[in-house]
Amino acid sequence: MARVRQAMQPHGFRGRVFGRLMDRFNASAHNFAFKRLDVHNSDRVLEIGFGTGRLARKLAKAARDGLVGGVDPSELMLETAEKRTRRFRKKGRVELKLGDASALPWPDETFDKAAALHSFQFWSDPAHDLAEVHRVLKPGGLLLLILRAHRKAGPKWLPNPISRSGQEIAGVLQLLTDNGFVGTRLEGKVGSSAVLTARKAA
Ligand SMILES: C[S@@+](CC[C@H](N)C(=O)[O-])C[C@H]1O[C@@H](n2cnc3c(N)ncnc32)[C@H](O)[C@@H]1O
Repeated sequence: MARVRQAMQPHGFRGRVFGRLMDRFNASAHNFAFKRLDVHNSDRVLEIGFGTGRLARKLAKAARDGLVGGVDPSELMLETAEKRTRRFRKKGRVELKLGDASALPWPDETFDKAAALHSFQFWSDPAHDLAEVHRVLKPGGLLLLILRAHRKAGPKWLPNPISRSGQEIAGVLQLLTDNGFVGTRLEGKVGSSAVLTARKAA
């Protein structure tokens, strides 16, 4: 059986160590995303691939009368993020689920905003998964993607064909447009990662 990479699905003792490293090295991306999402009191925000839940907790603090939903396929990350967001979950304001971008367990038009930080490269069917994100966003809803942009083609083991393509940014921008997003743009960089945004048409 193929080895499951820690970045793709943190697990076991090494996954805990990996989680600590993500908290440290992804903090600037979390802080950037938090500001860019500009979360208001009543916002409903989705995070795809929430990892240790560091960003989810910040979002929950800001969305005081809203909701933070999230999916991640790693049991270890779910457990870690659930601990971090316990007080918000008790109030029903955070819903974290084991799963992935391919089947988001919420009804159509649930969220005002959605974000995926350093997880897109693991989406095995990016067109289908972006259509799924589009489905759960409200009209006018914002999608923020922070991509671990690969200089050339990403490693062969990545499940996402676009991330292996060497034309990653252009490929994602095109796919966003193909899946009904508007205002699609590359906003710049945070660290060495690319920042892309798009909206569901109002
Ligand atoms: C490199 S970590 C980034 C975690 C967090 N977003 C951060 O920036 O600190 C990638 C995360 O994406 C999750 N993941 C992997 N495949 C996924 C998929 N198909 N859909 C959603 N999340 C996925 C992993 O379990 C892991 O927690």
